[in-house]
Amino acid sequence: MCGIIGYVGPRPAVQIIMDGLRRMEYRGYDSAGVAVVSQGQLVVSKKAGKLTNLAAELGAHPLPDSHQGVGHTRWATHGGPTDVNAHPHCSADGRVAVVHNGIIENFTVLRRDLEADGVVFQSQTDSETVAHLLGRALASGLDLMTAMRQVCQLLEGAFTLVAVDAQAPGRIVAARRDSPLVVGVGQGENFLASDVASFIEHTRDAIELGQDQVVEITPDQVRVLTFDGREAPTKPYRIDWDLSAAEKAGYDWFMRKEIYEQPQAAADTLLGRIDPDGRLRLDEMRIDRARLRSVDKIVIVACGTAYHAGLIAKYAIEHWTRIPCEVEIASEFRYRDPIVNPSTLVVTISQSGETADTLMAIRHAREQHAPVVAICNTNGATIPRESDAVIYTHAGPEIGVASTKGFTTQIIACYLLGLYLAQERGLKFGDEVAELVRQLAEVPDQMRRVLAGLDQVAELARGQADTRSVLFIGRHVGYPVALEGALKLKEISYLHAEGFAAGELKHGPIALVEPGLPIFAVVPPQGRDSLHDKVISNVQEVRARGAWTIVLAEEGDLEAGRWADCLIELPVVPTLFQPLVAIIPLQFFACELAASKGYDVDQPRNLAKSVTVE
Ligand code: M6R
Repeated sequence: MCGIIGYVGPRPAVQIIMDGLRRMEYRGYDSAGVAVVSQGQLVVSKKAGKLTNLAAELGAHPLPDSHQGVGHTRWATHGGPTDVNAHPHCSADGRVAVVHNGIIENFTVLRRDLEADGVVFQSQTDSETVAHLLGRALASGLDLMTAMRQVCQLLEGAFTLVAVDAQAPGRIVAARRDSPLVVGVGQGENFLASDVASFIEHTRDAIELGQDQVVEITPDQVRVLTFDGREAPTKPYRIDWDLSAAEKAGYDWFMRKEIYEQPQAAADTLLGRIDPDGRLRLDEMRIDRARLRSVDKIVIVACGTAYHAGLIAKYAIEHWTRIPCEVEIASEFRYRDPIVNPSTLVVTISQSGETADTLMAIRHAREQHAPVVAICNTNGATIPRESDAVIYTHAGPEIGVASTKGFTTQIIACYLLGLYLAQERGLKFGDEVAELVRQLAEVPDQMRRVLAGLDQVAELARGQADTRSVLFIGRHVGYPVALEGALKLKEISYLHAEGFAAGELKHGPIALVEPGLPIFAVVPPQGRDSLHDKVISNVQEVRARGAWTIVLAEEGDLEAGRWADCLIELPVVPTLFQPLVAIIPLQFFACELAASKGYDVDQPRNLAKSVTVE
């Protein structure tokens, strides 16, 4: 996830762009850069690291006055976070500069063709390909808008592109497919950006762009075409919030924002990993097929929320691969002399990629010569660097200390790994993998439906201001969901909260139940063996003892509804995918309750986002 801005108008472009980038830095802070046009020349400045590095560079070496430019703050995907990989990228003749958000999936082929034509690449990014393609189109006599349209038709994947041409004064061109881009309409000036936050201090008038559209802005005009050259209708709107909210893109808390980002984060984590025929492609799996075939045990190691994602993954991985899978808390793993050897696949899960316990577990596993796959959200962090392979979750930066989109994308990445193992070991037919992948690809839309119905959960949370204790129960994959729901509540609402395997209730925890105690129950989808009915029985048992039951069950589950004091309906999904939708109301409940109590939702007491000490 990156932040992109373009500006044309009478004011100093560098300052406008830098201010805009500052408000989009949450979108990525691996590197940043600016390109402006001055006296018919392109001038670029870019720097690895946070925006402050670029600001210092511009302080030391200011760019010339300009009224037309583009800027970028990067969250690295292809190519490490270095100065050369920072955007903007320029064509070989230095005529055009481009900034990019997204992934050009076919860049390897495009790059090979360009290199065969003699183009020398400066970076390891997929984005630089676009700069050279644009340069070539411009050199053939096309104008920037036409060049952009033609180039976009060559690209596969998701992208927002914003380009500036040294020979096109007062003009910026952009394009979008599956990636955000909005026009800010000012008085005698116009903006293009990934997020309205970047220009909100200048204008609250915006234009929404559609899929596969190209836009050209000058100080007085906005022109939108489809990729194939037809005039496109535009959708102007007025932004109904102001600068003070901009830092969190309109949300009052990063956590709330991150809860709502889950459909996109899930889609991004799937992006580029599924061939059109439904075959999985995990290009990052640097462990060869023979080694994967020799694996006789999988050990998942992680902490906190990532550990809960691992617990869920175990059910799916064992079901799909029939390989025994253990899940271990990282801080326990290395001190118990675990049985790990070269045929054990160790899978570590970490959002930050810096958690010390998880890192130590990796070192221990590698000392035993076990291959290690990291599932991680942070490009280039220590954990992926020290692992044999990495599957990145493309959740974008997660700023709220309570992990939300980190969790759901970790589950998706684990599922991709499980299906990949089944595929590569020949344990599932291609059409079986394709069908599961197709169902997984429907999850982002199902998440959107859950998000659209959260008002009920907000009301529920507001009514719980005096609650001292909350229990969560579930079976099968619903059990780790219960654990995660309880952790969210502990972390940010400071309430006593416990998650239990519903079948364990009668072995002790049911003694905690007293009249009025809120108990969330995650009910499995109907029609799957006896799991559903067993959880319903557990709900009845606690209700008979006076508990106040909040039941999460799939739409149309009349039986679940009978025993619910409050019913939260979930979309109909396969059992293994239910955690991806069931966790959302629980995250939201914790967020709303903490907010209603006046707590700092994003920075809860005693916690830090990344735990780098053991
Ligand atoms: O960065 P990691 O995923 O390795 O972090 C692991 C845990 O510290 C983390 O999940 C923690 O439990 C979160 N605060 C949970 O919301």
